[in-house]
Amino acid sequence: MAAGIDDIAIYIPRLYIDASDFAVNRGLDPVKLQKGLGVSQMAIVDANQDPACLAANACLQIMQKNKLSPEDIGRLYISTESAFDESKAMNSYVVGMLEQVYGQGAFEHCGGVETKFACVSGSYALYDNTNWIRAGEAEGKYALVVVSDIAKYDMGSSGEMTQGAGAVVMLLNDNPRLLAFDPKVTSTSIKDEYDFYRPFGKETPIVHGQYSNLLYMIQVRKALEAYKKKVLSTGLIKMGDDETILDHMDYINMHLPYSNMGKKALAYLVRHEWRQLPRWKKILSDIEMNEPIPKDPRGTIESVLGDNEFMAKDHEFTKMFTKTPEYQEIYESKLSSSLIASSMIGNLYTASLYLGFRSSLEFEHKKGIDLEGKRIGFGSYGSGSSAMVFSGIVQPNFKDIVGRMDLEAEIGNRRKLTWEEYEELHENKLSPEESMVHTNKEFVLVDVQTEKENRGERRYVFNE
Ligand code: HMG
Repeated sequence: MAAGIDDIAIYIPRLYIDASDFAVNRGLDPVKLQKGLGVSQMAIVDANQDPACLAANACLQIMQKNKLSPEDIGRLYISTESAFDESKAMNSYVVGMLEQVYGQGAFEHCGGVETKFACVSGSYALYDNTNWIRAGEAEGKYALVVVSDIAKYDMGSSGEMTQGAGAVVMLLNDNPRLLAFDPKVTSTSIKDEYDFYRPFGKETPIVHGQYSNLLYMIQVRKALEAYKKKVLSTGLIKMGDDETILDHMDYINMHLPYSNMGKKALAYLVRHEWRQLPRWKKILSDIEMNEPIPKDPRGTIESVLGDNEFMAKDHEFTKMFTKTPEYQEIYESKLSSSLIASSMIGNLYTASLYLGFRSSLEFEHKKGIDLEGKRIGFGSYGSGSSAMVFSGIVQPNFKDIVGRMDLEAEIGNRRKLTWEEYEELHENKLSPEESMVHTNKEFVLVDVQTEKENRGERRYVFNE
């Protein structure tokens, strides 16, 4: 049975901080953000928004657009790493908000959980819900998988320039208009790591930035190796002698903590995939440099990062490789369109990969490319750490969805924050009633109880 993504919708907060303003106020070169990281703007949540509001707003949008009633939805999963309760799942808050519009009890049949594994958990939720449909358990109902997050780092930390916020919701069924997932090839890799984590009670993560960059690439490569074995053993893809698995993916969507991480990760995967092929000899001869090798090739991530001579040479090699026409062709045709939304919105943690997917569809379609039958590969990564690689095929009715996509319109009119406003919001100095913009037809947070007997209870309203 086919199963996959029938439709996709996004909700992005209406406030943002501009990368140039950010750089000036932090004493950084704006070019580092814009060109070095690929960050132009970062979406910031208002004082009356939390990740549950973002998720509920995205759900309402996709239901209204598709004229769905709660009876049509069999499952509602939320994946997030911005949870504010250790026990009560974010689904319940979202159901509570949606029932303000659809009536009390309207979603009581609709099961689901909140899933957590940093940025990769949404991919696990998608996989599990796809299998619920494949198993015939859905009985004609849809699943909603929502990925919603606020990427917030400590003031003055190097992670602060890679913030963002937003939610993406995917509507899954057995006759998807957009993308059918390839069966029996989803592959994972997992390792106990501390590259990025957020201990109980801490609002912002503890991050080892350069370590996380390298670990991300290693883990995705391992998942890609496992994916390769599965596509060959299931016969999904037949590979010629001078081919790599990446040749069989028309598009490659990567997890995007910042837009240039996609570029970096693609270059890493391509280097590893091409190394055994005749085409690699031509690349080495064109760039007139051999691939550098660390002093301890079997060493740890720390030993590789600490090998300054290797790191400098490897950086130089990567720069030269990414300028070759062969890499440029792959980058432009398979990845670049997925990066556009990320540079305008920033990191969305769980939602980043799917915002990239959404961005790629819209901007490739706008180039006039017929997307029907194209295979899209996904490289999902979550710190802590796990990676997942999977793929799907764009379906014949994709134009019903993609033809109407308009990122600028969907983001809407945004308000640029001043530095003082940004600092006030970052340090949680404003209460919900001091929000900066008034929105219509959206769920917003009204208050969070502080008394002993009901501490943490949240109240939301739908702004008419
Ligand atoms: P940093 O160490 O300050 O930056 O922070 P850098 O020195 O690596 O510079 C970044 C890039 O800008 C480099 O380019 C520089 O060369 C360039 P690259 O070498 O990579 O091509 N650059 C400049 N370019 C032009 N003009 C200049 C200039 N200066 C430098 N003047 C870091 C970067 C990403 C480490 C930091 O922002 C950070 O810690 N971010 C948070 C962690 C993160 O995003 N990690 C990514 C991988 S882990 C992941 O994706 C999981 C995550 O989403 C969480 C989850 O799973 O839940 C984070």
